[in-house]
Amino acid sequence: MGVPGPDFSRKTALTGTLVRLVPARREHAAALHPLLADPEVGRLTGTVHSTDPGQDAGLSWSAAQIAEIYGRWSTALDRIVWVIEETATGRIVGESVLNDLDEDNLACGFRIWIAGARDRGLGTEAVELTLRHAFADQGLHRVSLEVYAFNPRARHVYEKAGFVHEGTRREALLFDGAWVDSHVMGILADEWRERQGMP
Ligand SMILES: CC(C)(COP(=O)(O)OP(=O)(O)OC[C@H]1O[C@@H](n2cnc3c(N)ncnc32)[C@H](O)[C@@H]1OP(=O)(O)O)[C@@H](O)C(=O)NCCC(=O)NCCS
Repeated sequence: MGVPGPDFSRKTALTGTLVRLVPARREHAAALHPLLADPEVGRLTGTVHSTDPGQDAGLSWSAAQIAEIYGRWSTALDRIVWVIEETATGRIVGESVLNDLDEDNLACGFRIWIAGARDRGLGTEAVELTLRHAFADQGLHRVSLEVYAFNPRARHVYEKAGFVHEGTRREALLFDGAWVDSHVMGILADEWRERQGMP
């Protein structure tokens, strides 16, 4: 029997070995707020435009504003936001997101960030869990993302998961007065299935 069409109101926890992805709620804002101040997250997600904190208001949301945003996202129909919980410690270390659901074309976007727990394999597993949900549980056909040219680590993690480079939005980001390309990457359901050894 085929998978029913995508329904992003179905927000379920996804359990791996190193991480558990828990649908984000308003109450997670207190844990997420300090993590969002991580300068590397700000730079690599395009949230800030300068290494000088005085030059940028990108990370100046209050905890109350973050709570309002995550509260809204907890019932959004076009996105699923999961907080990434490190299994070993129970700590929240970031978020993984399927967004911009396009039901007509069975497609959506993807984004992820981790703070204070990078380079230990958590991101790799969070990407795998999120893609499994997108293709196996939601029946999507395509997941796409953008990654800046100055972020080879994220690009490597995405390529490892099966994303392929589809094109480049040239000089899409202005950071510290320099233009940075944004690479568009995507993965299709058949490509994902083939990597899982599925027919
Ligand atoms: C991108 C991100 C989610 C990856 O999660 P992570 O837990 O740090 O990644 P992992 O530990 O699972 O894997 C990192 C991989 O990148 C590799 N890597 C690390 N630095 C690298 C670099 N400068 N260039 C290329 N590869 C690099 C590691 O060797 C590892 O690969 P391997 O598993 O083949 O050995 C996380 O680093 C992050 O949130 N970064 C800041 C925000 C960000 O970049 N978000 C994505 C925006 S598009």
